Formats: sequence, structure tokens, C-alpha cells
Amino acid sequence: MNSAEHTHGTHGTNGTGGAGTETEVTVLGLGLMGAALADAMLTGGRRTTVWNRTPGKAEPLTVRGAAEADGIRAAVTASPLVIVCIRDYTAVRDLLDPVADALAGRVLVNLTTGSSEEARVMAEWAAGHGAGYLDGAIMMTPPGIGAPETVIFYGGDEKLFRTHEPVLRLLGGRPTHLGEDTGTASLYDVALLGLMWGTFNSFLHALALVETEGTTATEFLPLATDWLTGVSSFMGLYAQQIDAGEFVATDASLATQLAPVEHLVHESRARGVDTRLPEYTRDLIADALAKGHGLDSYARIIDHFRTAAS
Ligand SMILES: NC(=O)c1ccc[n+]([C@@H]2O[C@H](COP(=O)([O-])OP(=O)(O)OC[C@H]3O[C@@H](n4cnc5c(N)ncnc54)[C@H](OP(=O)(O)O)[C@@H]3O)[C@@H](O)[C@H]2O)c1
Repeated sequence: MNSAEHTHGTHGTNGTGGAGTETEVTVLGLGLMGAALADAMLTGGRRTTVWNRTPGKAEPLTVRGAAEADGIRAAVTASPLVIVCIRDYTAVRDLLDPVADALAGRVLVNLTTGSSEEARVMAEWAAGHGAGYLDGAIMMTPPGIGAPETVIFYGGDEKLFRTHEPVLRLLGGRPTHLGEDTGTASLYDVALLGLMWGTFNSFLHALALVETEGTTATEFLPLATDWLTGVSSFMGLYAQQIDAGEFVATDASLATQLAPVEHLVHESRARGVDTRLPEYTRDLIADALAKGHGLDSYARIIDHFRTAAS
């Protein structure tokens, strides 16, 4: 790398300072999410360098004081902390491989969405080049970046996380370190997305049923959200049972729940609503009953998911 890349690689109001630390933080990628991350850094008063593969996306940030790097190497060498948020991990590797030497002694925070395996490979890659590494999963859409309630999961070296926690808090008020394993953030991300989609599907199925009687979605909404509050309290009970390995029903047994889910299948079919979601639930319960778990709570269905995984 030449010295020009260090001292003249960025332009903008903040492009001054010692070699390699012209600004405090660099954000690579100015898509919807990357631009929001950079914006939050500026709002937090951090001297920020930005870079995007396709030119023309930095202007809203440079008018707010960001320095725009004129190349990836200049972007990386501008700051001790480098945040990357682009399409996927393959793109991250393709982007950073040619400038890996410049990451030595810096900290890379990867907020790109990927798998836990990709995160671990990326951590090894960074360590191999002498860079600190944290892997993050953003549990929010761009408009929520910087909000106090926004959760961003992090996996990796806890000391590194604690060191950078104050600046990471600017991106989301609830930065949450999940463990030393860099893969944890991605794992928890998809686990919670699965919970979200499962809930959405059940909500939409319920709406499809009640609208056959002319009920609108907004009319049904308060009943649904009230019901979910009750459902989440059962999750608390089931979590205890699962951790204890004790499933005896204290609420409603699986045997008791078979008939209502069969009614749900029947009602769906009779009203021309897709039956696959309730049929899946019915089959889970029927399988558990066939295995002799009729007196257990719904938490017993965990066995099905564990078995499928192995
Ligand atoms: N949006 C959300 O709600 C959200 C929430 C959580 C996590 N995320 C994650 O954040 C990441 C970015 O999402 P986004 O919403 O910002 O997407 P986006 O608006 O589509 O932006 C994609 C970004 O990736 C860059 N990019 C793609 N391929 C590249 C490559 N080969 N080399 C360099 N840069 C490349 C694009 O650069 P160009 O401008 O040059 O195309 C652009 O900056 C994704 O991993 C996404 O899953 C997003």
C-alpha cells in the first residue's frame, strides 16, 4: 500500500488525522442498511469514512460530514474500526481478500447476513490476517437503526465487544453479546426469524378463516395480539418443562388438543382455506400420541424437531 492511500485516500470534512486513523469508523456498503449504519455513526458524533462499490450513494452522508474513500483500501485504512454490511459473505470475502493485509491491527465488524458456518470461517480468515473480528446480526430494518430499543446480536471475542460496545450502541441501543462463538449471532438471527414467519403464517391463516365471515384484518387484530400475549406466557411454562425434561401437562394435554386441531383442518377445508398449516400441526400431535405422549404438554413436540435435526 502506498502512503497516498493512507493520507489522501478519503475526502470530506473528516479526512484528516494520523496514518490509518483518519476517522474513527469506516462503513463499507451503502445499501439501505449500510447507509443507515453510517448515518447513525454520524448522529453519534463519530468521524466516519464511507465507501460503496457503486459510486453515487455517499452524498447524503458526506453532506453530514462523512469522508468518502475513493477505494476499498483507502476505506479500510482510514479507521481502526471497520464495519461491513453488504449483500452476503461471498461478497464480503471478494471485497476484502485483496486488501486483507490492510486489516491487520484493525477490528472488522461484519453485519452482513449469513450462516453461522460462514461467520466462523470469516472469523478464522480475519484472525489469519491479524484483525479482530465480531460478527453481528441486525434484528431491525434500516429505519430502526440507532433507536434505543434496537437489538443487534454479536458473537465473538467478548473483550473486543466490550471495548467497542459504546460505539456499537450507536447502531442499536441494545447491542447483545451472545457468546465467544462467532456463529451465535447468525444462529439466533435465523431462529428468531423462523419464530416470526411461523407466527405470521398462523396470523394470516387465521385472517383467511375469519374473513370468510366478513371480518376485516383490522377488526381481528386486537383479538390476535391479545391472544399472542397469552400464548407467550405458555412459552414460559414450556421453556421450563423443556429445560427440566419433564413434560407432564399442567395445562392441556396433547390428547386434548388433537380434536381442536382436527376442527381447524375441517373448518379450513370447508371454507376453502389452505389446510396444510393445520394439517402439519395435527400430524405433529398425532405422532406424539402414537409415541405414547398423550398426557404430555405441547412442549413434548420438541422431540420431533430434535429428531429431524439429527
Ligand atoms: N434491510 C434490512 O432490513 C436488513 C436487516 C437486517 C440485515 N440486513 C442485511 O444487511 C445486508 C445489506 O442489506 P441492505 O438492505 O443494505 O441491501 P441493499 O440495499 O440491497 O444493499 C446491498 C449492498 O451490498 C453491496 N454489494 C452487493 N454485492 C457487492 C459486492 N460483490 N461487492 C461490494 N458490495 C456489494 C451493494 O453495493 P452496490 O450499491 O454497489 O450494489 C449495496 O451497498 C444484507 O446482508 C442484509 O441481509 C438487512
